[in-house]
Amino acid sequence: WTVALLAILGGYLSGSIPFGLVFGRLFGLGDIRKIGSGNIGATNALRTGNKPMAALTLLGDVLKGTIPILIAWNWGPVAACIAGLGAFLGHLFPVWLGFKGGKGVATYLGILLGLAPIGALVFALLWLGTAFLFRFSSLAALVATVGVPIAYALWPFPEAAILTAILSVLVWWKHAANIRRLLAGTEGRIGAKG
Ligand code: G3P
Repeated sequence: WTVALLAILGGYLSGSIPFGLVFGRLFGLGDIRKIGSGNIGATNALRTGNKPMAALTLLGDVLKGTIPILIAWNWGPVAACIAGLGAFLGHLFPVWLGFKGGKGVATYLGILLGLAPIGALVFALLWLGTAFLFRFSSLAALVATVGVPIAYALWPFPEAAILTAILSVLVWWKHAANIRRLLAGTEGRIGAKG
């Protein structure tokens, strides 16, 4: 139980670092919550037009999922999954931002890299394929997060299948506004300024 508590708290602290907000301010671009979708993730960071800033946001948000898992692996796969859950919840509900965080896609990818790269590969192929065809970051995430739990269930890595099934439901829930915009035909395309 101590391990589980440390894993979820350590993961949460890592995941709650809002890199999009930090880099947006460091680059003198202001608060990225005031532009585009209002999200703190890399997709919205790209709407500032500053690609290096968006790339750093992506990298930070990926690594904050991977690093706690790599540490927690020392106590086995369940501890690794709990650390991943903590990191994901930290990104979605950061205490520093009044629990109003991001949508979790980059951190989800970071978690997959830490758990078992097969999930990251499936995620990347589905995300890139969908993004290439339709140019919607949100739609790419929605498709990719359906594929990952299935991939882990088949691999098999049952702990990771259960964890990613939970995370995928949270990703879909956090994309409710995106889903509405996609259905209404008003969703912004990747890289379009907001
Ligand atoms: O990673 C989040 C992405 O799927 C959607 O971002 O800013 O278009 O709501 P955004």
